[in-house]
Amino acid sequence: MPEDPLSRIEVLRREILRHNELYYRQNKPEISDKAYDFLLKELQQLESENPLFASPTSPTQKVGNDQNAGFATVSHRVPMQSLDNTYSKGELLAFDERLRRIFGIDQIPYYVEPKIDGLAISLTYEDGLLTQAVTRGNGTAGDDVTRNIRYIPTLPEKLQGEHIPESIDIRGEVFMTYAEFERINSERETINRAREAENRIREKEGKLPQKLLPLFANPRNLASGTVKLLDESVVATRRLEIILYGCGFCAPEIFTEQSELRKTFEHWQLPTLTHSWQVKGIEAAWKAIEELDSIRRDLPYPTDGAVIKVNPIELQQQAGQTSKAPRWAIAYKFNPEQAETRLRDITIQIGRTGALTPVAELDPVQLAGTTVSRATLHNEDEIARKDIRIGDVVVVEKAGEIIPAVVRVVKEKRGTASTPYSFSNHLKDLGIDAERIPGQAAWKLTGEEPLEQTIRRITHFASRVAMDIEGLGKAVVSKLVECGAVKHIDDIYKLSEADLLGMVLSTNDKGVETTLREKSTENLLQAIEKSKTQELWRLIHGLGIPHVGAQLAKDLAKNFGNIDALMQADLETLSQIEGIGSIVAQSIRAYAEQPEHQRMLANLNNLGMTPAAPGKISGDKAIFTGKTFVITGTLPSMGRDEAKALIESHGGKVSGSVSKKTDYLLAGEAAGSKLSKAEALGIRVISEADLLEILQQS
Ligand code: IVH
Repeated sequence: MPEDPLSRIEVLRREILRHNELYYRQNKPEISDKAYDFLLKELQQLESENPLFASPTSPTQKVGNDQNAGFATVSHRVPMQSLDNTYSKGELLAFDERLRRIFGIDQIPYYVEPKIDGLAISLTYEDGLLTQAVTRGNGTAGDDVTRNIRYIPTLPEKLQGEHIPESIDIRGEVFMTYAEFERINSERETINRAREAENRIREKEGKLPQKLLPLFANPRNLASGTVKLLDESVVATRRLEIILYGCGFCAPEIFTEQSELRKTFEHWQLPTLTHSWQVKGIEAAWKAIEELDSIRRDLPYPTDGAVIKVNPIELQQQAGQTSKAPRWAIAYKFNPEQAETRLRDITIQIGRTGALTPVAELDPVQLAGTTVSRATLHNEDEIARKDIRIGDVVVVEKAGEIIPAVVRVVKEKRGTASTPYSFSNHLKDLGIDAERIPGQAAWKLTGEEPLEQTIRRITHFASRVAMDIEGLGKAVVSKLVECGAVKHIDDIYKLSEADLLGMVLSTNDKGVETTLREKSTENLLQAIEKSKTQELWRLIHGLGIPHVGAQLAKDLAKNFGNIDALMQADLETLSQIEGIGSIVAQSIRAYAEQPEHQRMLANLNNLGMTPAAPGKISGDKAIFTGKTFVITGTLPSMGRDEAKALIESHGGKVSGSVSKKTDYLLAGEAAGSKLSKAEALGIRVISEADLLEILQQS
């Protein structure tokens, strides 16, 4: 199915950002690391072939963000970058060749280390005392998780020995052993069995069932979830491990070679890697990687590859870095284990939210130490792309502890009688009434929305990031949805005191109930009333239109000024707005066209919803009204987003490319081709200082 590059780029960016969110923030990855790496590779390739579509916000340019609510944000003194990775020796040789050209030497001194599969952490030691532990976050700033990190038994509060710098940021990885992961999951299974037994009794008594505890997917997710727990008492019950291998900020500078780090860290009594190889030249590095591959299953930490680093720090500095990763290091990842087996059948799994997932039923096969008889097929499009048919011999793969996946069909072994598989026909045969979600590859049941999903939708609408209705959190929403008082967003605005007062929110072990009292009821009704005049972007974000996040909602509010105009905008109008590609435009159209959404929005209007349109920028603030800016290069003090916000707050528009319509080019250091183009077109070029001066004078 040929696809134009821009559409594929958009699909990939959206998918990768979704997987980033699942992996880094929610600790619930849906695909294997390898499948993720390949999506990212495909995007990198397309972006380099189509430089016009490059974007500084593409996931190829930024590290995934692990920041969560509830933690203080701390800036890194030296950014925490990611690593480029590869699964091929050829790319490793290309990495070496590039560096040899830069350095002008034949045999580069390398340091090869195991790559730990955990979560990155930066520890600050001041005069040898541990003062702060911060996650990678967005690479520039992360979450302060110091309290939780102090529970790691092998991590010293105080560095021992000599040559301890005044202030140092030590980098490493937090992880969990497989044994600890299994202990925690089996404890949960025991609790769940007890709850299931109790639920059978509760069901007979007409009581709501107790929730079962979800099991963790793999040690990495559990480690990461534990570091991000707000409840310290739970952290205390789980054993985390740590290994340190790198250095960010260091005053005074004491290291001249990567290999010194491990020795010095050991001397300070920090936990370090058990193995490393100091070698000369890429062939020797390759030997080290092979050796690591042969021992990695016996290491006391999970490894998914090797990291090859240029050893002398001076050469590292000479090689430099991209916005996302250093050029002096690369990760070589080991291929996840694979096996061939026969696809007996495809079944359809119905999730709690009504989502339908195709599942491969396999002839049982041994894979990475376990017997595999089922694997995910992801979705309709993936089955079609790989042309997977019932009866095929397929290759299955298991990466980490994630559910095995069907990677490809062994076409040579396909019989002559096979016919292509059709997901929609299969659903029809099974009598499942389902529809494909507009703009997505996923299908869901038609008809009644499952309660869980309604609760999520309404909770999002009322949440702080959307309509900000205080008192309407998940607990209250769950009860209102369960008792049928709220099904759709507009129902919130029909609630009365009679619906709320005395509502049972929870019951403790002793049967004592917490109910909604008079004061809370009154406050909640007031908060609901007040939300009718919330800012327009909050309403747009609250609707939960797929792909419309808070920032985009702000742009839409600014462009359309009211909800009706947005709902009536056609694809072309939507696509003209900066930052909206065809997928997002289609998603907004699909939302607007659904009769139930039209009915709900009409009701909101009748119930008095009059959101505040974005304030018009007027008077002295509107100095840039009608002016279009392009920003290029690195500005001396402002980030690009900051400069953009400043220009927009004075009525200007910021566009991504220089054209005849550009009024000003705001240029910083290393401005490049945009600067030459602007000069050729005679466009006024200003510096950050000029911009600030214009604003000051106005
Ligand atoms: S060095 C500038 N060494 O893998 C980044 N990273 O996938 C230099 N990782 O962000 C990182 N083991 O969190 C390095 N021996 C090792 C590592 C390692 C695991 C992590 C690290 C990095 C990620 C990239």
